[in-house]
Amino acid sequence: MKKFAKAAIVLAAAGALALTGCGGGRTEATTSGSASGAAAGFEANAVIGVAMPQKTSENWVLAEQLFNDQLTAAGFQPSVQFANGGVTEQQNQIQAMIEKGAKVLIVGAIDGSQLGTQLAAAKQAGITVIAYDRLLTNTPDVDYYVAFDNYKVGVLQGTALLDGLKARKGDKSKWNIELMAGSPDDNNAKVFFDGAMSVLQPKIDDGTLTVLSKQTSFEQVVTQGWKAENAQKRFDTILSGFYQKADLDGILSPNDTLARAAMASVDAAGKPLPVVTGQDSEVESVKSIMAGKQYSTIFKDTNLLVAQSIKMVQALQKGGTPEVNDTKSYDNGVKVVPSYLIAPVIVTKDNAAEVYANDKTLGPLTKG
Ligand code: BGC
Repeated sequence: MKKFAKAAIVLAAAGALALTGCGGGRTEATTSGSASGAAAGFEANAVIGVAMPQKTSENWVLAEQLFNDQLTAAGFQPSVQFANGGVTEQQNQIQAMIEKGAKVLIVGAIDGSQLGTQLAAAKQAGITVIAYDRLLTNTPDVDYYVAFDNYKVGVLQGTALLDGLKARKGDKSKWNIELMAGSPDDNNAKVFFDGAMSVLQPKIDDGTLTVLSKQTSFEQVVTQGWKAENAQKRFDTILSGFYQKADLDGILSPNDTLARAAMASVDAAGKPLPVVTGQDSEVESVKSIMAGKQYSTIFKDTNLLVAQSIKMVQALQKGGTPEVNDTKSYDNGVKVVPSYLIAPVIVTKDNAAEVYANDKTLGPLTKG
């Protein structure tokens, strides 16, 4: 997959845009377009199934509430379920939604490659399947993808790490960093990592950045289940093994929960605060950014993602074709899934007040 992402960039640069055959990847270049094949339409009060993963970050919890409220307000009957017990539970929940007569399934997968049987059953039943936030892979039975541009998220994280090193550790020109990725079963984790490494790898290659642990492949830096304790344990080991004498200047963290876990580990080791990236605009991390601790996060407005998903449901209900804005980037191994991608926003102490100006949970913000 790493090779694939690199190949994608090279090919896109050369203007060759047709890429196929790699599970869950992201191809390059985006264009506007619409997916083919209009649905037949369905009753205005239909059941809409929303299968959510585990509550591994605040954005999923907010999505649950927004889907319930807004699908109800739009006249539908939402069936929103988390699968805190894991993949089998999610498979059973999707099966139950099909049996309940759902007309659309919106799926935030725990493991996007493990739902093929259920999605085939959904297709058989004439249900439209929308992958939400995380791509559903290795199946022909996914119709649309609604997400933030995950590769772009990674690029922004890699860029923020470099910017932060220059801004906060500018007394040096070479820095020690460590890398972290999300859960390997979540398709997004690799896409985030590939995006970040498109920025960081050249700087590792030219000696600007050094990874003392030598853990630089995706497989070496994953965090099972997106769990804070797994990240913290890994950083405890890395710090005691490689940073007794050296300083750790920066950490690529794929999200806020893991950023705080890594920072706790650095703190416990009594080492100076590194530049740490994040994602999700979680309350604790935004506070930490304003206090000058965590360096960056990413704002992915869940309101927009849910609203876009519901727009798709409404178009389908009327027998129309949902709007997409990308028909080239997200190849799930079987097909390129027509997508509606929203731009993620990088947030540091400098622009936080502006970015969160309308956010009732986070604003108003003051720099600490
Ligand atoms: C989401 C991230 C989130 C992570 C853990 C990913 O699929 O895109 O926003 O931090 O899951 O919940």
